[in-house]
Amino acid sequence: MKLTNMKQSIRLSVAAICLALTVPMSASASEGHGHALKDANIQMDHDTLRKGLEVFTNVCMGCHSAKYLRYGSLMAYPELGLTREEVDELRGEHSLMDGMVSELTPADAIESYGKVPPDLSLITRARRGAGNYVFSILTGYEEDPNGKIPEGNYNIYYPGNRIAMPDPLAWMGHSEDETAEIEGQAHAVASFLTFVGDPHQFERERIGVWVLGFLFLLAFVLWMLKREIWKDVKH
Ligand code: HEC
Repeated sequence: MKLTNMKQSIRLSVAAICLALTVPMSASASEGHGHALKDANIQMDHDTLRKGLEVFTNVCMGCHSAKYLRYGSLMAYPELGLTREEVDELRGEHSLMDGMVSELTPADAIESYGKVPPDLSLITRARRGAGNYVFSILTGYEEDPNGKIPEGNYNIYYPGNRIAMPDPLAWMGHSEDETAEIEGQAHAVASFLTFVGDPHQFERERIGVWVLGFLFLLAFVLWMLKREIWKDVKH
């Protein structure tokens, strides 16, 4: 191989590595429907996920299902750290193989809200902004400046602003403490739903760090090798 070819290929591999580094970073930047979404600061620690699970089962499951999330699989995630007893309590009459399905039937949902609430198993994958979108929706209820859409159905982050979901956390109230609690619950459940949408992403990220480390090492070794091979050649 000619020296220039070698140089070029090393330059190429360095460029490829830089590209590999920047692509996941830019892909995670969130985009919204017109309104820039809030940054939910999604977290995957045990306490956040447990709180998110609690909000999901106590509040969201009143209307939404997560049918691809089986009760039994809840035990499989060390991040959640649920015991068999805790899962048994959650599932009640359901079997471990059952998905987490709301009691609200589609027909009743149509009657009450005019729409069937979407399944939330994969919502953070299906929507731009992922967890940031869920967080923004949950904290995006406001008064309609035009006074057309009733309070509790006007949401600045929902396309068209009219959302059929009545503000699910509004019952907590509007004091400073209550607002902080709403944001805390929205953050936890948005984190939980991000986790649920792709529970293996953290494993991949861990592996990804090793892969990048390996690529850097490889680039370095190649560079050393090139120097070794060409050291006696006069330019
Ligand atoms: C009282 C019933 C009810 C409760 C409780 C409820 N939702 Fe909803 N939700 C709905 C309905 C109905 C829709 C459909 C809204 C629409 O399309 O206009 C919806 C829509 C959504 C959407 C938007 C989905 C999309 O298509 O972009 C998200 C996100 C969402 N809900 C998350 C949650 C979370 C998280 C909770 C728990 C904190 C929750 N919901 C609690 C009824 C509910």
